[in-house]
Amino acid sequence: MTVGSRQSAIELESRYMMQTYRRLPVEFVLGEGARLYDAQGEEYLDFLAGISVCNAGHCHPRVVEAIRDQAGRLQQVSNLYYNEPAARLAERLATSFEPGARVFLCNSGTEANEAAIKLARRHRRGGEIVVLEGAFHGRTMGALSATPQPDKQEPFAPLVPGFRVVPRDDPEALAAAVGDRTAAVMVEPVQGETGVWPISERMLLAAREACDRSGALLVFDEIQCGMGRTGTLWAFELTPVRPDVLTAAKALASGLPVGACLAGRRAADVLQAGDHGATFGGGPLVAAAALATLDILDDDALLSRVRVLGDRLRVGLEELRSAGRLSDVRGRGLMLGADVPAELEGGAPAVVARALEEGIVLNAIGPLTLRFLPPLVITDRDLDQVLDFLREAL
Ligand SMILES: Cc1ncc(COP(=O)(O)O)c(C=O)c1O
Repeated sequence: MTVGSRQSAIELESRYMMQTYRRLPVEFVLGEGARLYDAQGEEYLDFLAGISVCNAGHCHPRVVEAIRDQAGRLQQVSNLYYNEPAARLAERLATSFEPGARVFLCNSGTEANEAAIKLARRHRRGGEIVVLEGAFHGRTMGALSATPQPDKQEPFAPLVPGFRVVPRDDPEALAAAVGDRTAAVMVEPVQGETGVWPISERMLLAAREACDRSGALLVFDEIQCGMGRTGTLWAFELTPVRPDVLTAAKALASGLPVGACLAGRRAADVLQAGDHGATFGGGPLVAAAALATLDILDDDALLSRVRVLGDRLRVGLEELRSAGRLSDVRGRGLMLGADVPAELEGGAPAVVARALEEGIVLNAIGPLTLRFLPPLVITDRDLDQVLDFLREAL
């Protein structure tokens, strides 16, 4: 018997994979730009981008070419030796952050945050890490301990000790929580997984001030909101605040697994030989894909277009809000969230299901919130298609 020969991916998965995900009943087989195609050949407009991963669009020719080229040369050598793509990626990321920065390369967002947590603990031994309500920093035990969501944390207790939670928008509470026993304050400039919540400027300023006063490190998790998503390469560039440490992943290699922990001058030399490592971290194949992705996304014309498109999408959503068909709209650039009215039957998941039937990939984050994370290469017509759908569906 040929294993898997006639069964669909849906049948095979439900039998053989741990059922850790609630998937929608579609099997995608092809992607190009902002378009996806399913196993039946149906076309979809993608407004999720693999949850802010395919920011450069699906299978961008420059990324495909870089992967092909590197795959035929060298794929892995271990971190006992040097490799050029990793070194060039580190240079590129460090210089995008600040002079004197250094980078640790790993394989995912949660790993990038683990690196930041270890770095913070090395910076101030035994120190506490302050996180915000509504944060999502990942699923491994350290990053999970920084993710104050009872449904995600409680089944896995005991967690890593030394994390303290403050409200998302209470600068006084944040200032009071940070002292000379604090190792770091960890913030997503725009929270992604709990409904798209931009953190207010006064909160970010309070975090910066508290870290300066106490000697703690300010860590920005830009895993979802970075890499051009907000219309600047890094989301912090839209704010008056510069973090000491920044974590990135998701869009960095257009879908190949990668994570990066960027440490600015103050923190660049905290982690030393033997303190941390990852077999696959900085592998040449992924690094080549990341370099090609940065060539596409770290581009002034593309970033200014993201701001224009983000404004257009926001205006369209605001019109729906004024008409009472949405109850709230928020976000930055092409990272927007919109709440549907509580009385809408089926809530946001019903809108997403209907969109899928009409060939649009949307996302519901919670029962009432729609999240918009399109590839950054969408056209005006793509945007109109989604707004037309929403006008009709809501
Ligand atoms: C802000 C943020 N941090 C961390 C993570 C974890 O990243 P990964 O799933 O690559 O481990 C995510 C993933 O959604 C995220 O959005």
